[in-house]
Amino acid sequence: MSSQRIQNSTVSALNSNSRALDADLIFSYLSLDKPESIDVLDSIESTNSYLLERPISRQAARACFAESQTAGRGRHGNNWQSTPYRNIMFSLSWGFCGWPKDISALSLAIGLGVTKMLNDEYGIGASIKWPNDVLVKDAKLAGVLIDVAGHSKSDCQVVVGVGLNVDQAEWDQAIEYSWCDLRALGVKVDRNILAAKLIDVIVLVLRSFGSSGFGPMVEAWNELSAFSGRRVQLRQVDKSFDGLMLGVEADGALLIQTDSGLVQRISDSRASLRVIDI
Ligand code: BTN
Repeated sequence: MSSQRIQNSTVSALNSNSRALDADLIFSYLSLDKPESIDVLDSIESTNSYLLERPISRQAARACFAESQTAGRGRHGNNWQSTPYRNIMFSLSWGFCGWPKDISALSLAIGLGVTKMLNDEYGIGASIKWPNDVLVKDAKLAGVLIDVAGHSKSDCQVVVGVGLNVDQAEWDQAIEYSWCDLRALGVKVDRNILAAKLIDVIVLVLRSFGSSGFGPMVEAWNELSAFSGRRVQLRQVDKSFDGLMLGVEADGALLIQTDSGLVQRISDSRASLRVIDI
């Protein structure tokens, strides 16, 4: 077990309510298996990219937190913006034994785990937008980005990245979706405690996904689905269509009933979804 802290000039950037992220504190708050390492970095391009460049072992976690990212990555090639020292920018690498069934559903499993943890701990009534955005009243609180590493042909290795708005300042660029943060929801958190809870829940989900896949989680996912029963628009690279979101299936596929009554099954990870309630 090892921890590493690489920090400089952080203190002046911290607001008065916020303690700096600290690997030793995060370790001390963990309640389940300890990761092999927790790196807390002052600034890095991307915590996902950082862990992708490091060894990933079977059934072992490595965690990395950054107080700021210079090239934070989101889904669909978007960048991820986050005010330095105030939020959570976190990644965890993990090596499965072999290749779990329906690996594309891992992102749904992680979104579910993070959403449930936030609801259990802070009672914020969060829900999930397919495949894995965490929303509160349709505003985005957190996003998940999963990279499949592929250093090993026999085992699946992943880096799970989570960006969570704790106390986000206004963004300098217009963001095309509505967003929220824990502070606006009336939740004051110690980021070190939240960091440990994220590690705990993600390791738990990875272990369970590795042995049983997404099937046992599908009911819980559908219960927390933000858009099920609502009119949505599905956008793919070459087409888009509207319909009623029905939910997801045990392999993670999204089900949308089109206006003609046909049920479309979507497993395309490049697809994006928006609600078009009228
Ligand atoms: C999304 O909603 O588009 C996913 C956002 C994921 C952002 C996190 S922040 C920590 C980790 N490092 C990255 O570069 N991205 C993820």
